[in-house]
Amino acid sequence: MSLLPILSFSLLLLSIHNYSSPDCNRFQCGDLTIDYPFSLYDTTNPDHCGLPGLLISCENHVPILHLQSANYTVQGINYENRTIALVDTDVLDQNETCPRVKNNVTFFANAGIDYTNSDVNLTFFYECNIALNSSPISCFTSNGHGDSYVFRTSDIPSYQYPTWSAACQLVVVVPVLNYYLDQVYNDLNSAFGVALRNGFQLGWNSTTNCTKCLDNGGQ
Ligand SMILES: *[C@@H]1O[C@H](CO)[C@@H](O)[C@H](O)[C@H]1NC(C)=O
Ligand SMILES: *[C@@H]1O[C@H](CO)[C@@H](O)[C@H](O)[C@H]1NC(C)=O
Ligand SMILES: *[C@@H]1O[C@H](CO)[C@@H](O)[C@H](O)[C@H]1NC(C)=O
Ligand SMILES: *[C@@H]1O[C@H](CO)[C@@H](O)[C@H](O)[C@H]1NC(C)=O
Ligand SMILES: *[C@@H]1O[C@H](CO)[C@@H](O)[C@H](O)[C@H]1NC(C)=O
Ligand SMILES: *[C@@H]1O[C@H](CO)[C@@H](O)[C@H](O)[C@H]1NC(C)=O
Ligand SMILES: *[C@@H]1O[C@H](CO)[C@@H](O)[C@H](O)[C@H]1NC(C)=O
Repeated sequence: MSLLPILSFSLLLLSIHNYSSPDCNRFQCGDLTIDYPFSLYDTTNPDHCGLPGLLISCENHVPILHLQSANYTVQGINYENRTIALVDTDVLDQNETCPRVKNNVTFFANAGIDYTNSDVNLTFFYECNIALNSSPISCFTSNGHGDSYVFRTSDIPSYQYPTWSAACQLVVVVPVLNYYLDQVYNDLNSAFGVALRNGFQLGWNSTTNCTKCLDNGGQ
């Protein structure tokens, strides 16, 4: 019984030590090798190692990046181009043709990751009590709550935006890949699911490293 304090003290030391231990940096998840600047998000011990914004857990052989806003399934990592391909895990869990994105993508400002030139934004307006300047999303049933709409963000007339957002229950902005948006652009209100399921990309700079993250307090 007198072992218990000693044991928990050693566990504490161990967890501090593990903050920078090698297993935090390189690991295999499914077909992907996860390496610097990403590190392991230990679901049973979230403070185990690494910094918010660049933490990946491995759940049933599927790598999941934990961002501030939600969890994102990692589709690939290109260490040469310094890009990571992501899809909102919640979107993948939903009906293929008609997923509903619930939150904006957000990550800690100093996490060392950012959007790339391949990304463009979509804006969803949910349950609007006026008709917006487009066809409503055909697969959402309105149930009397008003129609929902999706636009390429840059297509929204800025003078309309305040009126539109005020008239709708929820506005959600999400990045998609330009390439997949092009494929469905003419039928965006019925085919946006394709763009959402192909996700988006984040990139990091060669200067992104954990020394930098640590200096920033991991914020
Ligand atoms: C993200 O994953 C973590 C760990 O599995 C879980 O605790 C958390 O609820 C998830 N967050 C969302 C928004 O689903
Ligand atoms: C990655 O970089 C290589 C070499 O510069 C380039 O050929 C390739 O198109 C890039 N891939 C992406 C996804 O940007
Ligand atoms: C998309 O929106 C995010 C946040 O709302 C912004 O940081 C980003 O620059 C936008 N991307 C483009 C291509 O406009
Ligand atoms: C997905 O949604 C579409 C449109 O509402 C519907 O026709 C289809 O049956 C749904 N598929 C599944 C698997 O629920
Ligand atoms: C998403 O961001 C937009 C501004 O870019 C904001 O108006 C909206 O309220 C945000 N939505 C959520 C769900 O936070
Ligand atoms: C990389 O550096 C460029 C130029 O300073 C900056 O615009 C970009 O946002 C940075 N990207 C990341 C992922 O930090
Ligand atoms: C991280 O960056 C710092 C300063 O920018 C540099 O001194 C250090 O060598 C870098 N570490 C790695 C592992 O790249």
